[in-house]
Amino acid sequence: RELLTGDALWALSVAVAVFLLLVDLMHRRQRWAARYPPGPLPLPGLGNLLQIDFQNMPSSFQKVLNVVPVLLRIPGLPGRVFPAQKAFMAMVDELLEEHRMTWDPAQPPRDLPDAFLVEVEKAKGNPESSFNDENLRVMVLDLFTAGMVTTSTTMAWAPLLMILHPDVQRHVQQEIDEVIGQVRQPEMGDQARMPFTMAVIHEVQRFGDIIPLGMPHMTSCDVEVQGFFIPKGTTLITNLSSVLKDETVWEKPLRFLDAQGHFVKREAFMPFSAGRRVCLGEPLARMELFLFFTCLLQRFSFSVPPGQARPSDRGVFGTIVTPSPYQLCAEPR
Ligand code: HEM
Repeated sequence: RELLTGDALWALSVAVAVFLLLVDLMHRRQRWAARYPPGPLPLPGLGNLLQIDFQNMPSSFQKVLNVVPVLLRIPGLPGRVFPAQKAFMAMVDELLEEHRMTWDPAQPPRDLPDAFLVEVEKAKGNPESSFNDENLRVMVLDLFTAGMVTTSTTMAWAPLLMILHPDVQRHVQQEIDEVIGQVRQPEMGDQARMPFTMAVIHEVQRFGDIIPLGMPHMTSCDVEVQGFFIPKGTTLITNLSSVLKDETVWEKPLRFLDAQGHFVKREAFMPFSAGRRVCLGEPLARMELFLFFTCLLQRFSFSVPPGQARPSDRGVFGTIVTPSPYQLCAEPR
């Protein structure tokens, strides 16, 4: 008899492992089919591992870390796999250090980190409290990442849609001229008298649909939804796009105006998601979008550069959906 060694043994082990996984998958399918909603069955670990891209190992390694996060405890590894995050964190640390140096507890807080530092002081000696230096870093990082790219990407969609629809741009400018004029800057109070502009900003967000799959959530207990059993610990992905782009809801062109030209809120408008974990920055984002958009159209008219073809309105799907790169002409009004 001959013993299997080296390469032969390795190949056999892999074949047996794949065979067992397939048998297991078939069993699970049979058992679960009746209980789970339609769609891929939950085998995230295997699914992610199979996506390894040998041409781009750093990105593949990020996926592996997603599945086996305990590896992140290996000293020095997170910084190597996520260099951009490391650089960003260093910037946040610098900002917070400057804050600590100039912070005066006797004065009212200047901003959120100051208010957090007050709580950190109060919580000193209480290991149970979540007010600590590490959470302050993570909170600032969260707000930067959640708040910057989202608003700026929406603002990248707005001029694109204006150059593709110059009649809409003119209508917005007309409303700006009537309500705000050319002398003073726009204020939030102007919103109430600018239904058309409001409708356009909402349509930019609906059309841009920048976070089509929302943020993943996880069930904290077993739940049943419309007869489907979803066990505790399942990752759920909300398909915001299916609502924002639902043709049965968004049939007419002026989607946020009623017959009298008044702005109307629509239930299916949910670029900020919905429910208890709806975007925390929504009120701030709405202010930013209104003020930036009206300021820009008050001062400039945007158009496709002479001699260039109409740019595409198709989005590029990444972490969030950005417009395809485009150029525009900005003419002072
Ligand atoms: C146009 C701009 C924005 C859009 C489209 C947007 C969209 C979203 C969406 C879809 C979520 C996921 C909600 C869910 O888990 O179901 C979210 C979460 C969040 N957003 Fe925004 N966001 C925007 C701007 C902002 C701004 C300006 C900030 C803060 C300065 C911000 C802070 C956050 C935070 C902290 C969360 C997590 C909330 C939680 O899990 O409780 N966002 N956002």
